[in-house]
Amino acid sequence: MFEGATSGGGIPHLGIGLPYFATLPAEIYRCGLIDFVEITPETICRQRAAGDAIALEIVPDQMERALHTCAGLPLVVHGVELSIGSAHGWNEAYLHMLDAFQAAWPFTWHSEHLGFQTIPGDDGKTLEVGVPLPLPPTIEAADLVSRRSVAIRQRYGVPFLLENPAYYLPDAPGDPEIGDDIGLMRKIIQTSGCLQLLDLHNVYCNAVNHDFDPFAAIDRMPLDAVAEIHIAGGSWDDGFRMDAHDGRVPEPVWDLLEYTLPQCPSVGGVVFELLDEHAVRLGVDAIQKELMRAREIWNRRGRGDGDGATRVSDLARPVGACL
Ligand SMILES: [Fe+2]
Repeated sequence: MFEGATSGGGIPHLGIGLPYFATLPAEIYRCGLIDFVEITPETICRQRAAGDAIALEIVPDQMERALHTCAGLPLVVHGVELSIGSAHGWNEAYLHMLDAFQAAWPFTWHSEHLGFQTIPGDDGKTLEVGVPLPLPPTIEAADLVSRRSVAIRQRYGVPFLLENPAYYLPDAPGDPEIGDDIGLMRKIIQTSGCLQLLDLHNVYCNAVNHDFDPFAAIDRMPLDAVAEIHIAGGSWDDGFRMDAHDGRVPEPVWDLLEYTLPQCPSVGGVVFELLDEHAVRLGVDAIQKELMRAREIWNRRGRGDGDGATRVSDLARPVGACL
């Protein structure tokens, strides 16, 4: 067992979660359909120039609206801009923003992507690369992220999770002691005490794009340390499966959830992940169906006795009836 799992890890069994979308009717968060909310704090922030650097500021009225919408539901944070694996330094502006966010709205746990998205530019300033990129499976990368994960755990005092990324180029060069992306995650968890956010659609993307068995990959993962699971939809582009978060969950990802969930003793919740710009297009009814299916699997696999113990039958009424 990993440290975070044996110590309880501070992970309560919350149940089924949904990201916060300002664009959806608030009632979707108040109908008993979900047990907790996952927020990406950058979505309620603005950037401001601060000398040579960029500050990230919470927009007060957007924060107020999010707090009102979520109406006391447990909260977890899922950040996207920390860039924990950047060799030249992580994003200090993100952490300063998260300090303020936690003071205003405490969260149960928080997570980031195991990767990097900034590099040093030619002028010495930080350059955004546009998308999160995976780290090479090296001892150097494991040490770097482990040190930073320990610092983050100490700074916020709540569990810190790293998410396995989708990657589109195969066979990143690495150290044999680490092996691959799974070995990298395992090493960081062992040395830092952080936990894993297991994104099953990312596993599915990688398996399809690089032609391996996703179930065999799951078997090699540190499942004792999985604290949260993401399920999501995606799309196809020129033969590649893309981590697009733009629709309903495909059947192979449901199969992976059925397989994986019973093997994760410390998991606190399953989140249906979706990008804000696709939430309205997908619609409340479709979102409700995905959440109910996730709950049915959650309850059937013996997680229905936790805090998130809502019965599927309680949710047969369409959310539209609450509007
Ligand atoms: Fe994810």
